[in-house]
Amino acid sequence: MSGMDTGLLAVNPGSVAKAAALLRRGQVVAIPTETVYGLAANALDEKAVERIFTAKGRPQDNPLIVHIDSMEMLPMAARKIPKEALLLAKAFWPGPLTMVLPRTARLAPSVSAGLDTVGIRMPAHPAARAVIAAAGLPLAAPSANLSGSPSPTTAQHVLADMKGRIPLILDGGNSPVGVESTVITLVGTPTVLRPGFVTANEIAEVLGGPVAVAAAVTAPLAAGQAPASPGMKYKHYAPKAEITILQGNLAQFSHYVAAKATGGVWALCFEGEETEIPVPCVTYGKKNNPATQATALFSALRTLDEKGAKTVFARAPGTSGVGFAVYNRLLRAAAFRVLEL
Ligand code: TXA
Ligand code: MG
Repeated sequence: MSGMDTGLLAVNPGSVAKAAALLRRGQVVAIPTETVYGLAANALDEKAVERIFTAKGRPQDNPLIVHIDSMEMLPMAARKIPKEALLLAKAFWPGPLTMVLPRTARLAPSVSAGLDTVGIRMPAHPAARAVIAAAGLPLAAPSANLSGSPSPTTAQHVLADMKGRIPLILDGGNSPVGVESTVITLVGTPTVLRPGFVTANEIAEVLGGPVAVAAAVTAPLAAGQAPASPGMKYKHYAPKAEITILQGNLAQFSHYVAAKATGGVWALCFEGEETEIPVPCVTYGKKNNPATQATALFSALRTLDEKGAKTVFARAPGTSGVGFAVYNRLLRAAAFRVLEL
């Protein structure tokens, strides 16, 4: 797989046409979306989809999300389209919401990794929409990181992970949302499997009924427990450092970290707090502004790796709005280590 030349092209009509041509030939192309960069391939072509798994080093049992650019494409992926799906599509598509629905037989088998369902999303990013439209195909696309690394929010992040593994990366700048889409299953009781920019409350309001949140969003799975979403069982977004989230105020945080200050100890904090903290810091957004935390978190985790951080203490984000998704990703990066100060 390695050794392939990897092109990095700004998004324009020429590069979009090139991406579409590669996709129609069964190749894998990284594209920007509003959430994170995706590693796209023709969702109807088994060989093409298998190339995604190879490029990412993704476990075979973790299914992919299928990206569409219109409601006309939905029946290519979903066998049954309940009225809840139409309501949510009207409210949140195009946008950062993935719905799990019964799958069609047309999709490549590996897309669903053996499940009878498929996650489907209509992205809002103009480049993603242009590529899907130019290819004229539904595109299977997981996040464009190596399996286990933080999701990429810039083309440079994708290049760091995918150089030599794929022929083309489209550069669309920074991902505006910064965390992956909300995943909700509509098979059985509507249940959020992964929190994102679209919240469970917003979904409940549109559906006019309760929406569950899977337990695995905030707690580790017990040994042997089957996850509702296969992705939940994998260690995610994990930097090389051991991260611990510290719940408490800035003074308590600084005091705790001061006692631990040795080489290799870093803090992950909010902008402007660096001067109060007695170890080197990487920031992720502003304290009471979860949207800025969402756009900065994955980049900050990559920076900590580059700095050679061994032990990281992280300021805890709030959990309202997209903050809940930020907290979920940080919890997973920290392997659920949280300390109350
Ligand atoms: O924002 C996003 O969703 C990005 C961009 C590229 O669209 N994609 C993304 O894909 O985050 P990925 O593969 O990294 O995450 C997909 C998640 C995984 O946790 C997977 O287990 C879950 O969705 N998933 C996919 N299909 C599923 C299904 N049929 N049932 C349950 N969970 C599913
Ligand atoms: Mg991913």
